[in-house]
Amino acid sequence: MSTLNNITVLGSGVLGGQIAWHSAFKGKTVVVYDISEEALNNCRGAHQQYAAIYLADVGATENDISQTHARLRYTTDLASAVFEADLVIEAVPEVPETKTSVYQQMAPLLPENTLIATNSSTLLARDFAEATGRPDKYCALHYANLIWIMNLAEIMAHPTTAESTLTAVTEFAIETGMVPIPVQKEQNGYVLNSWFVPLLNSAQTLVTNGISTPEEIDRTFMIANRGCERGPCGMMDVVGMKTAHDVCAYWGEVNNDDQMLANAAYVQANFLDKGLLGLQTGKGYYQYPNPAYMADDFLAVPDKSKVSEIVALTKPAE
Ligand SMILES: NC(=O)c1ccc[n+]([C@@H]2O[C@H](COP(=O)([O-])OP(=O)(O)OC[C@H]3O[C@@H](n4cnc5c(N)ncnc54)[C@H](O)[C@@H]3O)[C@@H](O)[C@H]2O)c1
Repeated sequence: MSTLNNITVLGSGVLGGQIAWHSAFKGKTVVVYDISEEALNNCRGAHQQYAAIYLADVGATENDISQTHARLRYTTDLASAVFEADLVIEAVPEVPETKTSVYQQMAPLLPENTLIATNSSTLLARDFAEATGRPDKYCALHYANLIWIMNLAEIMAHPTTAESTLTAVTEFAIETGMVPIPVQKEQNGYVLNSWFVPLLNSAQTLVTNGISTPEEIDRTFMIANRGCERGPCGMMDVVGMKTAHDVCAYWGEVNNDDQMLANAAYVQANFLDKGLLGLQTGKGYYQYPNPAYMADDFLAVPDKSKVSEIVALTKPAE
C-alpha cells in the first residue's frame, strides 16, 4: 500500500516539470507550484512535449497521457499547493537563500505528516533542515535530467532524518519507476554530480579559456565513449544554462575558485544575457531540434578539404 500519493512539486522549471510529469504518469496526483505564472505556462508547454515523448519512446497510450494531464494541477498559491500533500519535492533554483525562504514560507502551511525532499544538485539537506520546521521528515531525493531515460533517484539523509522518512521516500521512488541509489554518507553532489559537475565544469573551462570549441570537446568525449548520445557541452544544454551558471557561481564563490567564477561569467554573458537557456529554449551550445552532434558524420574522419579549417584552430595564436 502506497503512503505517498499526493505530491507537490515546488518549482516548475527543467527538473520540477519532469518530476511532476513523471510522477503523474506513474499514477500520483501532483500539484505544481511556482512563483511565476509565466514559469507555469512554460511548464504546461513542456508537459505537452513530454506527452509526445512518452507516446513515442516510453510506450504510453493516449489514455495514459490524458490521465496524466488529469492528475496534474498548477498553481502560484503556496497554501493551496501544499494543503493535502503527502510529499513535497523541492526543485526551486540552486540558490541557498531561495530554498531557505520557500521552506520557511511553507512550514506553517503543511499538514503534520507531510514529508519534504530536496532535489538540490549540489547542496546538503542539513543546511535547510531547520528551515523546513520538520528535520526528521526531510531528506534529499535527487533526480537526473531526462527522467524517463535517466531513471535514477539518489536518496540521502541528513543527520536527523527519520528512518521512516527514508523508507517512505524509497518506496515512492520505486513506485514511480526510479532506481533508488542510496548515498551512504552525506556528500555534496551525491554519486552522480560528484563526477558530472566536474566533467561539465572542465568542459566549460576549455571553452572559457579558448582551448577548444564545444563541438571538438563533445567529439572527443563521444569518440572516447562510443555509443553515448552527447558530449559535455550538449549535456550542459540539457541541464539548462541557468542551473549550469548557478552551480559554477555558487561553488566558485564557496571554494574561492576563480576559474569556476569565470565559467559562470561566460555562461551569463554568452547564454543567459541573450535568453539562451539550452534545450528548453531551443538553443544553447547547439541549436535544437537536430543538434550538430546528432548528425551522421559528427564523429567521422573528415575529408582532406577540411585541413585548412583544422589547422586554423591548431596554429599558435598571434
Ligand atoms: N537541471 C538539471 O539538470 C537538474 C538535475 C537535477 C537536479 N536539479 C536541481 O533542481 C533544482 C531546480 O533546477 P532546475 O534546473 O529545474 O531550475 P530552473 O531554473 O529550470 O527552474 C526553477 C524554477 O523555480 C521557480 N522558482 C524560483 N523561486 C521560486 C520560489 N521561491 N518558489 C517556487 N518556485 C520558484 C522558477 O520560476 C523556475 O520555474 C535545483 O536545485 C537544481 O540543482 C537540476
